[in-house]
Amino acid sequence: SSSKILIKGGTVVNAHREEVADVYVEDGIIVAVKPNIKVGDDVTVLDATGKFVMPGGIDPHTHLSFEFMGTETVDDFFYGQAAALAGGTTMHIDFVIPVSGSLTAGFEAYEKKAKKSCMDYGFHMAITKWDEVVSKEMEIMVKEKGINSFKFFLAYKGALMINDELLLEGFKKCKSLGALAMVHAENGDAVYEGQKRMIELGIFGPEGHALSRPSLLEGEATARAIRLAGFVNTPLYVVHVMSIDAMEEIATARRKGQRVIGEPVVSGLTLDGSGVWDPDFVTAAKFVMSPPIRASGHDKALQAALSTGILQLVGTDHCSFNSTQKALGIDDFRNIPNGVNGIEERMHLVWDIMVESGQISVTDYVRITSTECARIFNIYPRKGAILPGSDADIIIFNPNSSFEITAKSHHSRSDTNVFEGRRGKGKVEVTIAGGRIVWENDELKVVPGSGKYVEMPPFAYLFNGIDKGDAEYLSSLRAPVKRFKSTD
Ligand code: URP
Ligand code: ZN
Ligand code: ZN
Ligand code: ZN
Repeated sequence: SSSKILIKGGTVVNAHREEVADVYVEDGIIVAVKPNIKVGDDVTVLDATGKFVMPGGIDPHTHLSFEFMGTETVDDFFYGQAAALAGGTTMHIDFVIPVSGSLTAGFEAYEKKAKKSCMDYGFHMAITKWDEVVSKEMEIMVKEKGINSFKFFLAYKGALMINDELLLEGFKKCKSLGALAMVHAENGDAVYEGQKRMIELGIFGPEGHALSRPSLLEGEATARAIRLAGFVNTPLYVVHVMSIDAMEEIATARRKGQRVIGEPVVSGLTLDGSGVWDPDFVTAAKFVMSPPIRASGHDKALQAALSTGILQLVGTDHCSFNSTQKALGIDDFRNIPNGVNGIEERMHLVWDIMVESGQISVTDYVRITSTECARIFNIYPRKGAILPGSDADIIIFNPNSSFEITAKSHHSRSDTNVFEGRRGKGKVEVTIAGGRIVWENDELKVVPGSGKYVEMPPFAYLFNGIDKGDAEYLSSLRAPVKRFKSTD
């Protein structure tokens, strides 16, 4: 592939508008976006007439090379990213998990895992314990390592789960650093209780997973996290919103003016919870994730919330385990590794359910799959836009072609796919990542090591004084109230 590319005659779609224009790329950067660009013959020309030219997808929520529940996801940074590129996603943000509570060790481990990257990536970081060292390390992550978001797990008791005291400490620290707090919202103590109930009832199969952690526990934890973030007065990002219960808490908070962001994931938007009831264990177990995929009705409600802006962007929570790994829980659903795929399918499925179905416009599609993520994590317009100066992460999308999903042809290393058999209109025909054509004519041309780490700066510098601490920051917003004596 050439380092100079001209995409001719397509409809260029950004979140703010669409226009018929050519896009000229040189050395990984978009140089020009305008009609009738003339170039020399050292340039690779792609004809996009009748097609959409859009920013590559950004997946805000993935787990590649994730060591979890006694095993490790099959998709590492190379294979997971290759799958992503085949599906039109050109950047993802993965979750660094601390090593024995150490953020520094966790970061170094993920730096190593990510060396083989074939597309750009960023990191969030999970906070799984609390002390002075963690507090200091958070500061280092934000100021030196390019991390501006931290995830707190209210579930996975005995493993990743933290309590409300730690959550409050974490929220305060995020606020002081200008970082974004993220939350996995399920009540882990109640889930633990629910699991015991299932076992007492003799329910050991994958359906026990869903039955043990109903949507009200997601609603409770979402409400609690929102109120505690409100108490600290810091923004909150709720990951994998899977239920009406959680979505309504976000809607209510936003109506009151609280800064809460809600991220539905492709599995929750497109599937109903019937999968875990399949009589075949492996077929059922592949749908096990947390929070669980809910009963029919939640999916449509989440789509509606996404179309009206109550929820803002779509992730995947791509966390892929194969049949052998899922079989670790053959005797007990509590041992089924939690996670489903989606990094390769997201762009097609979101197009199908949101655009093709008539719920949103093409510009909104770009917003919820790419631009909004770039804005939230402070890397816009380098990412999430087709503008001069932006990174050349671009897809050519043919709305008149079609896609079909099957484990036989997908690029994930898993032997199953939760979206098996789904088909629809629209197809990512070309993916350009970092100025290289990496997907064309159904063929991947990916290079390990070509992906770059994208540092995400904190928001603190925008707010003059926030570094000096809450008291000064608050007084800069609002002067102390002057009280007058009644004789004045
Ligand atoms: O089941 C899930 N979601 N696995 C990945 C870990 C997480 O909670 O995001
Ligand atoms: Zn070349
Ligand atoms: Zn989670
Ligand atoms: Zn996740």
